[in-house]
Amino acid sequence: MNRPVLPKHIQAPRSTAAPATFRVKSFGCQMNVYDGERMVEMLGAQGMTAAPEGADADLVVLNTCHIREKAAEKVYSDIGRLRRDDGTRPMIAVAGCVAQAEGAEISRRAPSVDIVVGPQAYHNLPKLIAKVTQGEQALDTDMPTASKFDALPTRPRQARPTGFLTIQEGCDKFCTYCVVPYTRGAEISRPWSAILDEAKALIDGGVREITLLGQNVNAWTGEDVRGRPQCFDGLIRGLADLPDLARIRYMTSHPNDMTEGLIAAHAEVEKLMPFLHLPVQSGSNSILKAMNRNHTAESYLAILEKVRAVRPDIALSGDFIVGFPGETETDFEATMALVEQVRYAMAYSFKYSPRPGTPAADMDRQIPVEVMDERLQRLQAAINTHQVEFNSASVGKRVPILLEREGRYPGQKIGKTPWLQSVHVVAPDSALGDMIDVELLSAGPNSLAGALIERKAA
Ligand code: 5AD
Ligand code: SF4
Repeated sequence: MNRPVLPKHIQAPRSTAAPATFRVKSFGCQMNVYDGERMVEMLGAQGMTAAPEGADADLVVLNTCHIREKAAEKVYSDIGRLRRDDGTRPMIAVAGCVAQAEGAEISRRAPSVDIVVGPQAYHNLPKLIAKVTQGEQALDTDMPTASKFDALPTRPRQARPTGFLTIQEGCDKFCTYCVVPYTRGAEISRPWSAILDEAKALIDGGVREITLLGQNVNAWTGEDVRGRPQCFDGLIRGLADLPDLARIRYMTSHPNDMTEGLIAAHAEVEKLMPFLHLPVQSGSNSILKAMNRNHTAESYLAILEKVRAVRPDIALSGDFIVGFPGETETDFEATMALVEQVRYAMAYSFKYSPRPGTPAADMDRQIPVEVMDERLQRLQAAINTHQVEFNSASVGKRVPILLEREGRYPGQKIGKTPWLQSVHVVAPDSALGDMIDVELLSAGPNSLAGALIERKAA
C-alpha cells in the first residue's frame, strides 16, 4: 500500500481504521509482563492478530513502568520512534503505571497517543479502541471496585510450560521511595475461586509451573471454597492439590508478611520451589527507618534463618537500593555486611531514583550520582561473586529441570532447576514441559550446563 509521505514536523493523523494487528511491549516487573499477556489474549479474543516480530502493527500498546529512572521520559521517546518512515503511525496506547501516574498529561505532551489506560482498566481496551475509531482520544485510569479480571477472557493455550498468575495487587506499605501505592492502588487479594479457576485454565493450557504474582504476594488473604479464612500459605497448599501442576513459585514478598505458616509451607509443600525473593533494600536500620520499611536488618536476617532452618537448600534473592537520601558510607557498609552474611543466589540492585510525589523525593541529603555509581558497583560485584559461588556449588548435583524453551543448537533445550537456575541440556527426545533429570556439569554466572541422565528402561 502506498502511504502519503508526511514531513517529520507534521503530526501523523489519528488512525481511525479498526486495527487488525497489534503489538504489546511490556516494561518493568513481572506483574506488567502478566498484564501484557492478558492484553494479548484479550485482543486475540477480539479477532485481532499479533504482528510478527519486526513487522508493522496497526496498534501498539506500550505497557509502561514508573518505578525508577526517567521512565516517563523513555515512554515519550518510544512514542516518537513509532512513527513510520512514510510519516504514518500506528494507533498508540500507553498502558501501565506511567499511564496511571501521568494520565491526561500524556496525551497533552504526546498528541499522537490515542489511548491512555491504567493497570486496573486495561480490560476496557476494546471499548477504548472503538472510541479511537470514532476519531476521539480515549483515557481510562479508573480504579474500579469491580475486578478487571472478571472481564478478561479465560486463559487460552499457553506457548510456554511456565505461567504467571497475579493473585494480589497494590500495596499499603508506603515505603517512602516507592510509587506503587499510588500507581497500583491499595492492596487487594483476588478471590480463592478466581485464582484456582485461572490456575486450572493455565494447566489445561499446558502450564506445569505457576509463579504467583503480587506487589506483596505474601500479603494475600481470602476464604477458601468452604468459607474458611486463609492466608497465602493456605492458597499455596490449595494450588498444590491440583494434580497436573508440578511447581509453584511466588514473588514479590515483603518481610513483614513472612508468616510462620508460609515458612512451614517451604518445608511441607513439595511443589513449592526452594526459592525466596525477599527484598530488604538496605542493611542499615536508620535507612530502613527512613524508608518506612517497618523492619530492621536483624528482624530480616531472623526470618531468613527460620526459612533456612526448615529448608536448608533454599536459594535466596533480594532487592537493594543504594544512595537513598542520607545514606552514609557506614550505612552502605551495613548493606555490604548483610549481603556478605546472606550470600544471595541472585539479587537485584538499583540506584535510588527520586519519584515525584513520594516522600523521599523531598528529603534532604540526596546522594550525588557518582557516589551512587560507586556504591552500586561495589554491591553488584559482591552479589555477582555470590551468584557464581552459588551456581558453582551446584556442579556435580543431579537435579530435576523443567524444560521451558528450545536452546540455540539442534536438540538443545533450556530448563530451570528448582533453585531457578537456567540449565542448557541436549535432550532431543524430550519435549518442552517435560521434567527431566540432569547432572550439572559446569556453571557460569547466569546459567549452567547439564547432561541428561537416561532413565533405565523398566
Ligand atoms: N528508586 C530505586 N529503586 C526503587 N525500587 C522501588 N522504588 C525505587 C526507587 N524510587 C526498587 C526496590 C523494589 C524494586 C521493585 O524496585 O528495590 O523492591
Ligand atoms: Fe513499593 Fe514498599 Fe510496597 Fe514494595 S512494599 S511495592 S517497595 S511501597
